[in-house]
Amino acid sequence: MYTLERATNYIRTNSNQVKDDYRHHYHIMAPIGWINDPNGFIYYRGEYHLFYQYYPYKAEWGPMHWGHAKSKDLINWETAPVALAPDQTYDKDGCFSGTAIEKDGEMYLMYTGHIMGEKDEDIRQVQCIAVSSDGINFEKVQQNPVIAENNLPKNANPQDFRDPKVIKKGEFYYSLIASKAEYGGGQILLYKSRDLLDWVFVSVMLKGEEGEGIMWECPDLFSLDGKDVLIISVEGLPKQGIKFPNTHSVISIIGKMDWEEGTFHKEKTEELDYGLDFYAPQTITDNKHRRIMISWMQMWGRNIPTETENHGWAGAMTLPRELSIKNNHIYQSPIAEIKNYYKNKQSINNIRLKDDSKEFIELSGEVYALELNLNTKMGKRFELEVRSNEEERTLIAYDCDSDLLELNRKSSGVEIVGKEDEHVHKRAVYCDSERGKLNLEIFIDKASIEVFINKGKFTMTSTIYPKKKADKLKIAAEGDIEIVSLDKWDIEV
Ligand code: FRU
Repeated sequence: MYTLERATNYIRTNSNQVKDDYRHHYHIMAPIGWINDPNGFIYYRGEYHLFYQYYPYKAEWGPMHWGHAKSKDLINWETAPVALAPDQTYDKDGCFSGTAIEKDGEMYLMYTGHIMGEKDEDIRQVQCIAVSSDGINFEKVQQNPVIAENNLPKNANPQDFRDPKVIKKGEFYYSLIASKAEYGGGQILLYKSRDLLDWVFVSVMLKGEEGEGIMWECPDLFSLDGKDVLIISVEGLPKQGIKFPNTHSVISIIGKMDWEEGTFHKEKTEELDYGLDFYAPQTITDNKHRRIMISWMQMWGRNIPTETENHGWAGAMTLPRELSIKNNHIYQSPIAEIKNYYKNKQSINNIRLKDDSKEFIELSGEVYALELNLNTKMGKRFELEVRSNEEERTLIAYDCDSDLLELNRKSSGVEIVGKEDEHVHKRAVYCDSERGKLNLEIFIDKASIEVFINKGKFTMTSTIYPKKKADKLKIAAEGDIEIVSLDKWDIEV
């Protein structure tokens, strides 16, 4: 039997056994055990709260709890007590993903109760509410489950019905819930309520088509810079050229939400991150009206070295990112507060490398931010090697003619392989650079790399697990490459 008390005691007595070789310095992690999706991201009474899918007892997925972290500035997080344990008949096999929302000064969580049976067809997923008056201690309401099988439209399957995202609009609360449709693909259902407890079904907000994945998860919907944006995490989206090679992919759909009809009209669909480890993001707005996104920085269906090598923990979140829309495209910027933790600035300006390579000793490190401006007009290829030692390296390579940037972790350290038909060790993206100018902001932590390309136009997020100290940085050029500026800051939290 899982209870909050058991989780709290286990975490208290065992967290000191976690190996810290790969523990991040500025990315959210649990003190011990497994985490996946960010949940219930909210700005509440002057603090950011982030909950997460959590199994404290092993570094692998198990009956889901909601872990909890909070922060005043999105960078320095403190672990709060576990918020939900699967301790009721309606959530006995897991408290799955969901949202937090403030109502009358209290924090409400809407999450999915996961119930297993003898056979797969017996699985049921239902929606539940828990309430807190302090943002720390939660009580599940007696009306649970508040949305169950009897409230499903005909074409929806009761085994896959999860991840409510709650939005307030006028006097109503709306809940977007991911569902599997009868044809075997994803759809988003829309529900409506005045009090978060009594819900009515409104509509199928958006239905997937053949070739759009086998299940949609973790929907998010918001308005930004005059557009409506729907984000969906998709299971089994077929690979399309350089897009969607991972088993799970995140797409953003810019469009228009018709609240009268309860339907979403698509304008433009894009992959949200071109890396190897990015899934199930959630967004919020804070008191500064910023639209901020945090995502799980792992991928389903692959080995996770901190699990297989018995480090006692698995999973972390991305750096929070601020979103904006320009020319009908979503930009992601590293959250500004990270700059408050920058130390020891090192700068290199106006260096030309011509068919040459160079190690920059002064730019060594394992936890840092890098900003690079290149002029590639006269060049052929540029390579940046980070987190390297004699045998290992993480490679960022840019082809000047095609404007294609590649992130390659084949030699980063412990090999990561997965369920894909062909192992995916690298990914690439066209950067949409202007006149030979390339801008890269790169965030490196003990076991991760996040690349923001051309002021956040594209991002690439991946985990890396060097087997030994890997702190060198090298640059190589084919043809004539000008490093206009290269700044590095250690990050100390
Ligand atoms: C997405 C997901 C959700 C589900 C949760 C279970 O990563 O599969 O759909 O609620 O993880 O942990």
